Amino acid sequence: MQSYKILHTFLILIFYFYNLVLCGNPSDDDAYTKLFKHDPQDLIRKRYFRIEPEETSFTLNVKPLDYPDKCELKQLHLLTRHGSRYPDPTDIRAFDRLEKIFENVSVAKEWYKNPFPMERNFQLIPRGEMEPYFDGKQSVLRYDKFWKDVKKTRYDPEVVKFQAGANSRCAASAMAFSEGVFNGDGPLDSCKNQPVYIMSIPQNEDNVLEQYNNCKLLTETVFNNNPIYNEQNYTYGNTTLAPIAKRMSEDYGIYPPLNPYLVPYIFHHCEFWVLHFNRADTWCSLLSELDIKKLRYYWDMTDYHLYEYGSPLNEQTGCVYYTQLVSGVESYLNGSSRMVADLKNGHSHGMLMVLTTLGVHKNPFPLTANLTLSQIDEIKYSEAKTIYWSSTIYFEIYTCSDNEDKEKSTKIRLVLNFEPLLIPGCESEYCEWSTFKKVLGDKIGCDFNKLCGNP
Ligand SMILES: *[C@@H]1O[C@H](CO)[C@@H](O)[C@H](O)[C@H]1NC(C)=O
Ligand SMILES: *[C@@H]1O[C@H](CO)[C@@H](O)[C@H](O)[C@H]1NC(C)=O
Ligand SMILES: *[C@@H]1O[C@H](CO)[C@@H](O)[C@H](O)[C@H]1NC(C)=O
Ligand SMILES: *[C@@H]1O[C@H](CO)[C@@H](O)[C@H](O)[C@H]1NC(C)=O
Ligand SMILES: *[C@@H]1O[C@H](CO)[C@@H](O)[C@H](O)[C@H]1NC(C)=O
Repeated sequence: MQSYKILHTFLILIFYFYNLVLCGNPSDDDAYTKLFKHDPQDLIRKRYFRIEPEETSFTLNVKPLDYPDKCELKQLHLLTRHGSRYPDPTDIRAFDRLEKIFENVSVAKEWYKNPFPMERNFQLIPRGEMEPYFDGKQSVLRYDKFWKDVKKTRYDPEVVKFQAGANSRCAASAMAFSEGVFNGDGPLDSCKNQPVYIMSIPQNEDNVLEQYNNCKLLTETVFNNNPIYNEQNYTYGNTTLAPIAKRMSEDYGIYPPLNPYLVPYIFHHCEFWVLHFNRADTWCSLLSELDIKKLRYYWDMTDYHLYEYGSPLNEQTGCVYYTQLVSGVESYLNGSSRMVADLKNGHSHGMLMVLTTLGVHKNPFPLTANLTLSQIDEIKYSEAKTIYWSSTIYFEIYTCSDNEDKEKSTKIRLVLNFEPLLIPGCESEYCEWSTFKKVLGDKIGCDFNKLCGNP
């Protein structure tokens, strides 16, 4: 009896150590840990990625909009991001480098090869086609009365305008959105599809959706030769990326040691494996949850410096968007235009600049290399949390009968993924039109080429 008990305890102990060695324990300083276990859907839900959780991206349980009794929704301006996609060329090149570096790493032997071919870079994936389709359906549910009124007459390209960045992912997303709005109302085939006109401006002239590509000053002083960002990048490299790279090099026998600046691309690789294959047991398994949080932040810090408040120029670079918005609203109100819906499909970088130009979407502290982990947790506005693939920004235009004065009876409200944002300088989320224009000041009617020092 006694010996049985000892044997039993002994076996339990063996079992315990066996587990510790083979399965690891997902904590950062556990010497036995070589791989980390994650549930891909859990990582999505925690908002580490640019992927919107299915609960919101594919729901049709959307409540109709509620707004003050005396007001009527007159016009909608949508600025949305294309759906989820293949990696960009920079990511794919980094994944190719990682493939070579990890070719003899035993834990990676099943998956070290890069499955994302360069010829597919930036293209939508099926999920990325579904997301904007559902955004269209959600728009109809959310703005139900508005769309019912619009649909009283047959589709009219002067009334509902679609615009997309001049590339496949934006234009295909705009088309999917239009199907979400109009399928069933048109003349085509058994599904009664409606063909729509989607307008694009050549990339080098599109200062509304792709302005970040067309601004000389931005390229020369913000994207390149940016001493403020370079210092943050350098500091973060030394304090945060280098220790992760060192640990990986030691754990997996990588020689020469892994370049710390490749580690953020391991995170992107992890994200794309989750997006495309629902798998967190490949590149994600090299990262602890804490690593994932820190690497997500590397990209947020970069966005902050290049596309948001880290560069004062970005408080101007959304000005052409607002110039068009203001003219679109006023032309409708004075009867010279019939457009009631202006639906634009663009990119995260342009959207970040548009938000920065209005002074919204600002975290309470600058996103520098020395943030504490608890500050990182407090970040509310970031590409992963708010400007993910297929995220939506709507400007809603109301006229209200509570005031005789036309400027005062017109109100504008900004909603980001259907959450209202307060515009600094406005009295409430329903902002008087004249106040909104005052907030923007001479950004309305800006001379983009002059601002950017373009030839
Ligand atoms: C992997 O092993 C092969 C065969 O030994 C060798 O030729 C190659 O250089 C190794 N690659 C790396 C990145 O170490
Ligand atoms: C950060 O610095 C590294 C090393 O100089 C560089 O390779 C990398 O491109 C920089 N990151 C960005 C986003 O510019
Ligand atoms: C900081 O990082 C650079 C490379 O990014 C490296 O040359 C330098 O030795 C590092 N400094 C420290 C103190 O780790
Ligand atoms: C209507 O407003 C637009 C935009 O502000 C302006 O360009 C146009 O001249 C106005 N038309 C009339 C008839 O007032
Ligand atoms: C963090 O870094 C920023 C920019 O380099 C600096 O202004 C700030 O004082 C630093 N904060 C702390 C707590 O060190």
